[in-house]
Amino acid sequence: MPAEAERPGRVAIVGGGAIARFLAACIVPRGAAVTLLVRRREQCAALRAQGIVAATPSSRWRVAVDAARAGDMPPGPVFSALFVCVKSAQTAEAVAACLPLLRGDAPVISAQNGLNDQVIAGLAGANRAFGLVLSCPCESVGDTRVRCLTDAPSIACGAVADDNRGRLAAIGRLIGPPVALRGGIDLTAERWSKLALNCATGPLLALTGLTLGDLARIPAARGLVATIVAEVVATARATGVRPAPIAGLAAGDWIAGPTALADAAILRFAARNPGGRSSLAADYDRGRSSEIEDLLGVVVRRAASVGVATPVCGRLLRRFTGPAPPGAPTRIAPEDLLEQPGGVFIRGIPDGHEF
Ligand SMILES: NC(=O)c1ccc[n+]([C@@H]2O[C@H](COP(=O)([O-])OP(=O)(O)OC[C@H]3O[C@@H](n4cnc5c(N)ncnc54)[C@H](OP(=O)(O)O)[C@@H]3O)[C@@H](O)[C@H]2O)c1
Repeated sequence: MPAEAERPGRVAIVGGGAIARFLAACIVPRGAAVTLLVRRREQCAALRAQGIVAATPSSRWRVAVDAARAGDMPPGPVFSALFVCVKSAQTAEAVAACLPLLRGDAPVISAQNGLNDQVIAGLAGANRAFGLVLSCPCESVGDTRVRCLTDAPSIACGAVADDNRGRLAAIGRLIGPPVALRGGIDLTAERWSKLALNCATGPLLALTGLTLGDLARIPAARGLVATIVAEVVATARATGVRPAPIAGLAAGDWIAGPTALADAAILRFAARNPGGRSSLAADYDRGRSSEIEDLLGVVVRRAASVGVATPVCGRLLRRFTGPAPPGAPTRIAPEDLLEQPGGVFIRGIPDGHEF
């Protein structure tokens, strides 16, 4: 426990889902008082009464938290940091509601997937905007519990404004075990790297119903993953971004599409979390709105604006968001992923390309 003088103040987390709960469970033991700003009154009551129970494969712990609806709190600068843990589409609405509750220079830290840092910088100011890139697969259970699927979750932390990197150490000190923290990253480069992985795995996991380990065992699926990563990397580069290594492989090594290197990188990545399904797949399974437009949709739109072809990302996006083509299964069965000369195709889709 830190000494009294170093003890962090009151920390707010907006969102009440898997990532909000897991972060709270890693922040409270460091000494901060955490308030979850959620949108349902019944969840407020449950969180206050029961706290949060977090689990990894080998541990389980409970933390006490406060909870409120942002709009129900009297405006006033009570929080010294805000972590943003809503889905991308709710970013602007959620952050705007919380800003009146923050102290003047309180950092606003996105723990989201996608490219939301500029949205937050636009609302809070670039000098207060920070981002976490999470390798932290989590599932929520009920309204108060969370399960992290790995014993070795890790988080990288970066600043939107380069000259603000000095504040990262204080943000990093808020988050304790079991998370391993890496600070001082190039946030944009890491966001695109994570975006590539999210686009390459989430939609396929959703459409096939498979786990990451099962998907990676299918050579044709690995071919699709490598092609999607290559399209995202090409888009990033055309917009002036050099993505950080993706699944341990330099971004440039993905450009050629499926290669032995890419194949090995996908297998290594999947081996770290073989049972993983992604939050996009979890939303698809439950019929809830997903972040597909903020992941694949962002890539396809940005690629179009800079003249980069993303045929596979485009087809996957249409397959995900539009009605399934006539005769196409709602789920794509593993045996329907066919590797043929000229690419990977889905059986049963009319022209052999659309999926
Ligand atoms: N889960 C993972 O493994 C994982 C890993 C890495 C990154 N991420 C990213 O982390 C972010 C959060 O994901 P998640 O899995 O935690 O999502 P989630 O479980 O769906 O949680 C989102 C939460 O936001 C709440 N919410 C929505 N609008 C709100 C508002 N205006 N004010 C307050 N709360 C609001 C929702 O409330 P209701 O319950 O009332 O709908 C829900 O509790 C996403 O960007 C995701 O891509 C997730």
